[in-house]
Amino acid sequence: MCVKSVRLYRFRNFCVEELEFSEKENIIIGENGFGKSNLLEGIYICGFGRSFRTRAISECIKFGEDAGSVSLRLSDSSSIRVEILANSGKSILYNGKKLRKVSNLFNILNIVYIGPQEIEYVRGAPSLRRELMDLAIMRREPEMTSTITDYSRLIRERHFYLKKLASGEAVGGEIYLDALDERIAALGGKIVRSRLGIVDSIKERVGETYRRIADNKDKVEVAYHSSFPIKDRENISKSILESLYSARERDKRYLETTVGPHRDDLTVKLNGVPIREYGSWGEMRSASFAILLSLATSSLEKGRKRPVFLVDDAFANLDAIRRKNLAALIRENGQFFLTVTGEGELGEISPEAFVFELKEPGRPVRRENG
Ligand SMILES: Nc1ncnc2c1ncn2[C@@H]1O[C@H](COP(=O)(O)OP(=O)(O)O)[C@@H](O)[C@H]1O
Ligand SMILES: [Mg+2]
Repeated sequence: MCVKSVRLYRFRNFCVEELEFSEKENIIIGENGFGKSNLLEGIYICGFGRSFRTRAISECIKFGEDAGSVSLRLSDSSSIRVEILANSGKSILYNGKKLRKVSNLFNILNIVYIGPQEIEYVRGAPSLRRELMDLAIMRREPEMTSTITDYSRLIRERHFYLKKLASGEAVGGEIYLDALDERIAALGGKIVRSRLGIVDSIKERVGETYRRIADNKDKVEVAYHSSFPIKDRENISKSILESLYSARERDKRYLETTVGPHRDDLTVKLNGVPIREYGSWGEMRSASFAILLSLATSSLEKGRKRPVFLVDDAFANLDAIRRKNLAALIRENGQFFLTVTGEGELGEISPEAFVFELKEPGRPVRRENG
């Protein structure tokens, strides 16, 4: 599925803009602050129901207005519309009908945002990698969405209960903790099983994709790292439950849940050593790209939607070879949106690409011959 057109209404620095896109490649050129990221943000919001920049979506309403919206028309003629109101949040419409759950959006468009910060998927905290895996799960197995949110809720509840136990306010004693642990283990087991499935499905592809980007023989490997021993993949819940029991005294002291999928990670190695610790900036960035691309395209194999890549300033500072290889990979695998500040960053423009120029803030105009 790809994005055929967008309408931005009182969104960021746009008044009313309507643009038709190429199903293949779209290049947005403009100086700093002219609205390139704003445009990608509009598309992103229609794929995720939230922004990649702010938690407060009302910040997206044009200054001085009290409502704004973004609408997309997709290649199958369906439409997504997100209306943003200053006071009462947002409403999301699919084909004119209000969507009840934001997560229902995740299966309509397969948007992959790659911005300047995406290196953090490799360099940053484990929570980012867990989010990445869980988003992939929600896209592949929408029915897992409630398991993932319920699990987080149970972990918070356990945290509160441990505090109550410590202060002597807990009514249920450890019996309630037992019950919580069983629930946590049951849901946690499902989550870990799905995450292992995701990692299995991208393992080889990450290595191949990295080699294509870097154009060398370096070997990148990803593996699931669990905070508890997995003895039997068919019975992960049991392992979690056992580990929760053995960690209980420690957990009561630290008022934390020290084992479980919320403490797991995805490890990334380059030629056998952790890339987070030894890799260069360009290597970490390329590995991040390889993981994001592999996640997006492996879901494609399972009959999912063709990805829409929003590549925001992400090529700057990469060497020319990596830039060219990455662009080729993205072109092969999905619809491509790329922002640049000048022609110099582009290399060769494919003849099929639509080129949009922002010569002034908030006014993208398609080039006659592009
Ligand atoms: N809610 C808003 N209303 C109007 N303008 C906004 C709003 N939010 C951000 N802007 C403006 O958008 C510009 C940033 O646009 P952005 O798309 O990030 O630029 P770039 O082209 O460098 O990616 C800034 O000039 C900022 O003032
Ligand atoms: Mg920008």
